[in-house]
Amino acid sequence: MASPSWLFLILAATTVGSVMRVRGQGTPDSTGFISIDCGLPEKSSYVDTITKLTYVSDDGFTDAGANRNISAEYVKPSSTKRYLNVRSFPDVVRSCYTLGSLTPGSKYLIRATFLYGNYDGLGRLPVFDLHIGVNFWTTVNVTTLHQAELTEVITIVQDDFVQVCLVNTGSGTPFISGLDLRPLKSTLYPQVNATQGLVLLTRNNIGPSEEAAIKYPDDPYDRAWIPWSNPTRDFSQVSTEKKMKSVASVYFEVPSIVMQTAFTPRNASKNFDDIYWVAVPNHVYPAPEYICILYFAELQILSGNAVRRFNITINGKLWYPGPYTPLYLHANPVYNERPLYGSSQYDVALTATSDSTLPPIINAVEVFSVISTANVATDPQDGMYIQN
Ligand SMILES: *[C@@H]1O[C@H](CO)[C@@H](O)[C@H](O)[C@H]1NC(C)=O
Ligand SMILES: *[C@@H]1O[C@H](CO)[C@@H](O)[C@H](O)[C@H]1NC(C)=O
Ligand SMILES: *[C@@H]1O[C@H](CO)[C@@H](O)[C@H](O)[C@H]1NC(C)=O
Ligand SMILES: *[C@@H]1O[C@H](CO)[C@@H](O)[C@H](O)[C@H]1NC(C)=O
Ligand SMILES: *[C@@H]1O[C@H](CO)[C@@H](O)[C@H](O)[C@H]1NC(C)=O
Repeated sequence: MASPSWLFLILAATTVGSVMRVRGQGTPDSTGFISIDCGLPEKSSYVDTITKLTYVSDDGFTDAGANRNISAEYVKPSSTKRYLNVRSFPDVVRSCYTLGSLTPGSKYLIRATFLYGNYDGLGRLPVFDLHIGVNFWTTVNVTTLHQAELTEVITIVQDDFVQVCLVNTGSGTPFISGLDLRPLKSTLYPQVNATQGLVLLTRNNIGPSEEAAIKYPDDPYDRAWIPWSNPTRDFSQVSTEKKMKSVASVYFEVPSIVMQTAFTPRNASKNFDDIYWVAVPNHVYPAPEYICILYFAELQILSGNAVRRFNITINGKLWYPGPYTPLYLHANPVYNERPLYGSSQYDVALTATSDSTLPPIINAVEVFSVISTANVATDPQDGMYIQN
């Protein structure tokens, strides 16, 4: 799958961190969102031109590290403001942000973004770990000087605050460009519970009408649906002006606008087998496990004897029990509850059944890896932690 969101995550060496104590803790705005432009001058804020969300400086959220600007050569007129500056943490092994005034036991989406931009003039791309509280979230392997990379976790927060910690693993100085927190309804992403979180691998709007990602306010949770366009020109776009009339489940709340576009194979006798993902192991999860969510809706009123019916397989095994027919303007997620594991690559195929007169269709996809959030702080008061 050709998508910018394939660029993130990777691995490193394990480290038992020294611990920053919690002092200041920043709080959400009136929407319940926390939107931080890390490294912005203290006490400043601005409204993001696309989402109209207000981004604030990080001085209320961490007392570690130092503000730095990216190198002028990476500043373009089109640059997103969030990526012009970073906060870097050269001195300590473990440095944390504290996001406060949360609802204990609630579900949150937390996203961290990174654009190196040679802010330190060293031209050396760092690799470091990210923790959510005392649990390992991911390894950040910054792979380009100029592109933003992101990682996102959906997790239940046990306390009225959560810490996001950057951990130096001996492969360069940790830094961060942006940090977002979005509250989710407790019904969303049922695979997430008190001991299990989901880390985003990719989230795509298939057959998009625009090149821009769909995000807030089209997605009230500010998930970014990255366009998955037509790298091989093997697909036809199908779209409708009509909003979805119904959703099959309350579990994912995919925005209607994402569902209103889709791809089918251009050659009607061809199957849809261009979606795949490659497993991304790291030092904590050498054998990662995956949750996949495929979203389907019929966008055309089918005439007379027309039938669209297909099998959904992953690595050749039937993934959805029996042939599947998307319903007109009815957004339906097909997903696994128990994670997929054990392969280095996962190939999704939609195969028209012999009685189908129309090729398969697909509107959107999300893939997540599973992390454990079962570790608890031994004593949150003094900030001592158990490590994996
Ligand atoms: C980081 O990514 C680069 C390029 O993809 C890769 O060669 C390297 O092994 C990765 N490093 C770690 C520690 O994962
Ligand atoms: C970063 O750039 C801004 C705007 O040009 C400037 O006001 C600020 O002082 C710079 N910050 C640092 C840490 O150099
Ligand atoms: C969370 O879900 C996993 C996988 O279904 C399960 O093994 C675990 O027991 C659940 N944890 C809680 C606290 O329900
Ligand atoms: C469509 O696919 C079928 C089966 O793969 C192939 O035989 C046929 O030549 C293709 N048609 C076009 C126009 O490419
Ligand atoms: C679709 O799956 C069914 C089993 O549910 C199987 O009998 C059929 O052969 C499959 N069709 C294709 C085209 O793969």
